[in-house]
Amino acid sequence: MGVVLLWSLVVLLRWISWKRRGAISYDSSDQTALYIRMLGDVRVRSCISLEPERRGSHPYLCVDFRILHSRHDPAAPASAYSVRRLLSFQRYLHSSRRLRCGSAPPHILDDDYVGQAKCMLQRTGSWNFDIFLFDRLTNGNSLVTLTFHLFHHYGLIELFQLDMVKLRRFLVMVQEDYHSQNPYHNALHAADVTQAMYCYLQEPKLSTSLSACDILLGLLAAATHDLDHPGVNQPFLIKTNHHLAALYKNTSVLENHHWRSAVGLLRESGLFSHLPAEDGLNMEKQLGSLILATDISRQNEYLTKFREHLEKDDLCMANSSHRHFVLQMALKCADICNPCRPWELSKQWSEKVTEEFFHQGEIEKRHSLEVSPLCDSQTNTVGSIQTGFMTYVVEPLFAEWARFSDTRLSRTMLGYLALNKAGWSGALQELGGGLDEGTEASAEEPDSTALPQGSQRS
Ligand SMILES: *[C@@H]1O[C@H](CO)[C@@H](O)[C@H](O)[C@H]1NC(C)=O
Ligand SMILES: *[C@@H]1O[C@H](CO)[C@@H](O)[C@H](O)[C@H]1NC(C)=O
Ligand SMILES: [Zn+2]
Repeated sequence: MGVVLLWSLVVLLRWISWKRRGAISYDSSDQTALYIRMLGDVRVRSCISLEPERRGSHPYLCVDFRILHSRHDPAAPASAYSVRRLLSFQRYLHSSRRLRCGSAPPHILDDDYVGQAKCMLQRTGSWNFDIFLFDRLTNGNSLVTLTFHLFHHYGLIELFQLDMVKLRRFLVMVQEDYHSQNPYHNALHAADVTQAMYCYLQEPKLSTSLSACDILLGLLAAATHDLDHPGVNQPFLIKTNHHLAALYKNTSVLENHHWRSAVGLLRESGLFSHLPAEDGLNMEKQLGSLILATDISRQNEYLTKFREHLEKDDLCMANSSHRHFVLQMALKCADICNPCRPWELSKQWSEKVTEEFFHQGEIEKRHSLEVSPLCDSQTNTVGSIQTGFMTYVVEPLFAEWARFSDTRLSRTMLGYLALNKAGWSGALQELGGGLDEGTEASAEEPDSTALPQGSQRS
């Protein structure tokens, strides 16, 4: 997801709410104005067409990516060039891609760990699932192990007559193409989103109506939705003249890249090569539509549509385009569900994402670029970032999701969200009263070391 873009939104929304000294408005015209401000002179989204008919017009991106990065562009300013070098995905230099052709299993595990990991897999549907522990038990192979398990669990291998070797190779490539040096946008985040997606797929409204194809696409989209994420946000790519920004015309740059990277790996692995070409292309297109929905700068668009459906009560799960929309919303929820997890898990994600922001801020400072909102470690804290994010981005989304899927899981998620927010804003004692006006509280820079962690869980 374009997390940092989203965080920028948070900052702007907070500023506006402060200016008004009133309730936060989700008025759509306000938000539209905000997006335009946020994006600066970036092209307005509606001008862009990334419709499926253009699919396939981009060559396989991973290959281009490496070649382009290895060349010096004399037209680029020196600092932009050195920044690009920093982001040149150097892992490719030491790429283990050639290992993929070998027969070595992706994970050689201690028997004891295998046993414990297998045991954990029986609780994949639990909202308290500890993906950090699972990742350690699988020796860093949580994404491969979990996704393969879910494919097997749903019988997708038989249903789609998938070649198990190709499937495994595909998943290993996906996992490898996440950058393990990113504090947040790495394969563990993808595994976490896949696990959350599975929880949502199990919700009654979805489980009773989704087709096998929906499930396949939902899981694939979750596993690949941040593929090859560079660890910096879209505004950064634009201001450093990154070729991806030009390729995708400054619009959903990262999400388009994640999608096209996933398509590249699907084709390279031949996972769907036995399907009729038309079906394969249709899958790729739907996968794109799901991944592009994770562009957080478009959240308002999706939320407005979701609200309209909920108000009219006209979502018909027998209609495939409605199911697809619900899958988009489910993936959006899965992508930003960190604040809805139990505190111990949620806190770790918060620290990781902040580390990634601050790292971008440091690169910007080092290269005399303007420091992006929320990326300056001098003026932001984990708690202040989280509080705004929860209030303006996560709560509105999960409130609507709970309206759509009024279940125990939804109530659990909203419960953790309130607790975690109270924890970060240092207002636990006020829980249940006045938290909704907590924008000022977030400016008080809560001391994260003094959080009432014990009482969080009671
Ligand atoms: C993308 O944004 C940059 C910086 O604002 C601008 O120079 C460039 O022309 C834009 N590209 C497109 C295709 O809109
Ligand atoms: C499904 O929903 C879409 C969008 O609301 C609508 O255009 C289409 O006619 C519906 N299809 C069926 C078969 O009802
Ligand atoms: Zn993500």
